[in-house]
Amino acid sequence: MPVQRSLLGRPFPPMPPKRVAVLLSTIAVFAVFTLVFTLPNSIPSGPSLGRFTDHKIPMPKLPKTLSPSILNPFRQAAHAPPVQKNSTSGDASWYSNWNWMSPFSSSVTLDENRSLLPPLIDRPPIYTYYDHTLQKEKDHKDAENAVLVTWRRAWWAQGFKPIILSPAEAMNNPLYAELQMQELEPYLKTELARWLAWENMGTGILCHYLLLPMGSHEDPLLAFLRRGEYPQLTRFDHLGSGLFAGTKGDITAAVKQALSNKALKEAGDFIGAVSPETFKIDPKHGALAFYDTRTVKEKYSKIADEIENDGPSGLMMLNKLTISHLHTTWQNTFSKGIAVLKPQADHMTAAILPARKLAEFLTQCPSSPLPSSCPPNNPHCKPCVASLPLKITTPSVYRNTSDLYTIGTVPHPFTTALLSPLYDSSESELTIPWIRRKSKRDPWLTTITAELCGTGMSGAPRVVKFKDAVASQYGTAHSLWITAERDMPDDLDWYFGFTIPRNVTDKGESETPVPGPERKPNVSSGPRTLEPEVTEEEASLMKERALLKRAVEFGQARTPEDEKLRKAIEAWNLADTEAWRFARAFLERSRVERKRWEEEERKYAGGKAGAERGMSEGWGRWFDDR
Ligand SMILES: *[C@@H]1O[C@H](CO)[C@@H](O)[C@H](O)[C@H]1NC(C)=O
Ligand SMILES: *[C@@H]1O[C@H](CO)[C@@H](O)[C@H](O)[C@H]1NC(C)=O
Ligand SMILES: *[C@@H]1O[C@H](CO)[C@@H](O)[C@H](O)[C@H]1NC(C)=O
Ligand SMILES: *[C@@H]1O[C@H](CO)[C@@H](O)[C@H](O)[C@H]1NC(C)=O
Ligand SMILES: *[C@@H]1O[C@H](CO)[C@@H](O)[C@H](O)[C@H]1NC(C)=O
Repeated sequence: MPVQRSLLGRPFPPMPPKRVAVLLSTIAVFAVFTLVFTLPNSIPSGPSLGRFTDHKIPMPKLPKTLSPSILNPFRQAAHAPPVQKNSTSGDASWYSNWNWMSPFSSSVTLDENRSLLPPLIDRPPIYTYYDHTLQKEKDHKDAENAVLVTWRRAWWAQGFKPIILSPAEAMNNPLYAELQMQELEPYLKTELARWLAWENMGTGILCHYLLLPMGSHEDPLLAFLRRGEYPQLTRFDHLGSGLFAGTKGDITAAVKQALSNKALKEAGDFIGAVSPETFKIDPKHGALAFYDTRTVKEKYSKIADEIENDGPSGLMMLNKLTISHLHTTWQNTFSKGIAVLKPQADHMTAAILPARKLAEFLTQCPSSPLPSSCPPNNPHCKPCVASLPLKITTPSVYRNTSDLYTIGTVPHPFTTALLSPLYDSSESELTIPWIRRKSKRDPWLTTITAELCGTGMSGAPRVVKFKDAVASQYGTAHSLWITAERDMPDDLDWYFGFTIPRNVTDKGESETPVPGPERKPNVSSGPRTLEPEVTEEEASLMKERALLKRAVEFGQARTPEDEKLRKAIEAWNLADTEAWRFARAFLERSRVERKRWEEEERKYAGGKAGAERGMSEGWGRWFDDR
């Protein structure tokens, strides 16, 4: 008796074997075509290599060896891209490439642990000249050192590579001999040495260390300077010798012109020593604040007097003033306040505590010798008023608003699952069946991008949006993304470009008790246990803390059982995992980039001059109490 075949439950008449073969091969060809042409299309637009290569192949051939990638099993097995220099740190590793916007890194890096990051943006060099060889009192040197640190930090945060030049660079210049032969006033001689040092380095920006960038990241002038291409030797109207930008050829020509000037002795400064046509004078410099002697005398006379009385202490005051102005500028840029993302309103309090605390620090008024003063480049600023601080909000979604700063905390899917309202912590263990039956896929990313992408979108385009928010130039200037299981980066001051005030005044209204250093929770004597009753809110916070601790420990444990569970959770939440890895790698790379630069700079005399020297205390103790 022939076998009864059925299609969708309905029997259909037996077919001769030849027609079966034709039908089957038609289906097979159709299936292959569908796979090949829909897979690349499911990846959203963006610079993806696949878009350009896959479509050139006229007839798809099935590769003999298949790649292990889950996403595209029909891809030919390939070598993973080469490991780049300094591209690992702890567990995080990354590969920087221009096609970083692909939703899933592993489809390019062929390694689930390696995230695909945007190429590091070249930081154009900005030079300042500081003569560390001059004999001065120690406290004078310390004050100048503090000023130099402020200068380096402010320019670093704006995307430059600040470099301190010293007489060593000037002497390295072949033209130095010519300078030595001239008999000049000490001021003019220093000025020329400064130019020789710059000429020795080449194309870039020469900046006085009392000139600081005070504007938003998108300011057109800062954006122009960041591009690193200076068609003409440029100086700025009213800024004197504060800032020059130019290419090596132009700098050399200017220096030669000055040195061969017969009337060099009579010239007051470098600008006077060359013909006026040497420079293009830019009248727009709204984002540059120059604290030269004249400005300080005019606008901040209290400090000018102090400098006259006692140089070092006056300089320290000036330094404090510039830091407070940098902070005020930042607060004015983000006038809508700070959004600390909190996607699961009732369950994320502990996880976002460090982010929230950072937000509180940032909304503080900086301590300043002239509290209501404005930077010299922006007389109409809004000075920080303690009674009207910036708003801190805790929205559940990411909003792309230009004057809102976002601090995001990205949890690993395991952490999300532990903290999720669905998870009943009385259930002894998180198990694979629980994940599959009860938990939603990618809950964190779906919530965060709900407004950006709407609902009903799959994980891949959400990840792309997320990556844009984290790592694009615009994104880095408007947000900071940390992972929930790790500590805050310890060089936060360098992200923002000023010393972040580290003490929170007791406003008595903050939701969560924020202990100061002296009230550090001692296991038995935290402020919480002093209260007779533990409120419901605090009990849930304590529970969250315990769960978070478990999540952190889980991340460090590597038992085979844990690994299995971890793999299952990561596979279930592909997009959340990708987001977490991406944020982790991006933050680590910024840290490594800065460390490397510090290492490089330390070799030079200038590096010693602008080093932090324990001035900045670590952040660890401020955030480790969640
Ligand atoms: C970067 O790599 C070099 C060698 O390739 C190594 O000496 C240096 O310590 C690394 N720097 C960091 C910050 O990891
Ligand atoms: C990724 O990292 C985990 C844990 O560090 C490890 O178990 C796994 O083998 C790694 N995967 C690859 C492809 O290296
Ligand atoms: C946010 O807005 C800026 C400019 O308005 C845009 O360039 C950027 O791509 C947006 N980012 C996201 C994640 O939508
Ligand atoms: C703490 O804040 C107060 C006022 O806000 C300020 O006067 C003091 O200098 C700050 N202390 C530190 C160590 O920053
Ligand atoms: C914290 O507790 C330890 C013992 O647990 C004690 O030695 C220490 O003095 C306490 N510190 C404060 C500030 O109370």
